[in-house]
Amino acid sequence: MLRAGLLWLSEQPQVFRFVRSSRLAQKFASRFVAGETIDSAIRVLKDLNAANLTVSLDLLGESVHSAEEAKAAQQAYLELLDRIQGEGGSGNVSVKLTQMGLDIDEALCVANLRSIIGRAKQYHSFVRLDMEGSEYTERTLTLFKRTLYPEFGQTTGVVLQSYLRRTAQDVDAMIGLAARVRLCKGAYQEPATVAFPNKADVDANYVACMEQLMERGNYPGLATHDEQIIEHAKAFAKRKGIGAERFEFQMLYGVRRDLQVKLRKEGWNLRVYVPYGTHWYPYLMRRLAERPANLWFILGNVIRESLRRKN
Ligand code: FDA
Repeated sequence: MLRAGLLWLSEQPQVFRFVRSSRLAQKFASRFVAGETIDSAIRVLKDLNAANLTVSLDLLGESVHSAEEAKAAQQAYLELLDRIQGEGGSGNVSVKLTQMGLDIDEALCVANLRSIIGRAKQYHSFVRLDMEGSEYTERTLTLFKRTLYPEFGQTTGVVLQSYLRRTAQDVDAMIGLAARVRLCKGAYQEPATVAFPNKADVDANYVACMEQLMERGNYPGLATHDEQIIEHAKAFAKRKGIGAERFEFQMLYGVRRDLQVKLRKEGWNLRVYVPYGTHWYPYLMRRLAERPANLWFILGNVIRESLRRKN
């Protein structure tokens, strides 16, 4: 019921128009989204850099419907890379293939990606291909393995999701290529045929894949706010003699800021994933709809942090 309601709301432009003008909604969104413009994204990047945190910037918006929209997103990413470089910021970018036009024409998508990754290469930066729903997993990984990785090597990397049954094999394949992997649990609603329905299995698979990537992989990004898993990673690194320079933790902007700062102070690399752009409303609603439990995580997190501030 809740999920269906949130999904329905996410598709109502008139609700967005209404919500967008609401100061409360803007305040809620501003905790998780770095504003609507490149300027606001760069401001957040600088603030995070000042706190010794590095960043991956993401222009919100996926599943574009026209080549013009895909081109506009590509242009925005080029400008983002120019701005990060020009301002001497520490950060890279994360891109969704459907935003580059994958559903319209694969050649268009590849052309857009080539120009973005090419620009990133010029700046010795990096482009992460975000992972979308499981209908895109094979296409994304094939495009990466056959086209982008051979052309651009370490300038680009992928995301693997521990809720997918196939992921252990994908981890092996990426380790074989020495390709950079961000490991997350996965944010989409997936059928049990392709994904583990039980959270305990998703978590166990995360730990197994994480250990492989930490021991044998190329600078993996461990994207999670799960403290147990983070503690496990730290203990595993110590036990195996894996230095802090060989991997990074990654977390979402606005989520567990206390933990982000703590990890950094302990000397671990920490990257914050920072989404920005006008598409924040569907983004927030879809994230909540895909995993309604996140609504309670978010509220719980906000309450926990404000209680801590009072104490
Ligand atoms: P889990 O959901 O098990 O939560 C563990 C604990 O973390 C909770 O108990 C809570 O305390 C805290 N927590 C988690 N989410 C929270 C929230 N929103 N607010 C407050 N507290 C929260 N997914 C995907 O499918 N494709 C992708 O490309 C990416 N990219 C990506 C990048 C980065 C940097 C991160 C951190 C995450 C992603 N994700 C993603 C999302 C990911 O798959 C997953 O849905 C969320 O990170 C939540 O899972 P956790 O691993 O944090 O643990």
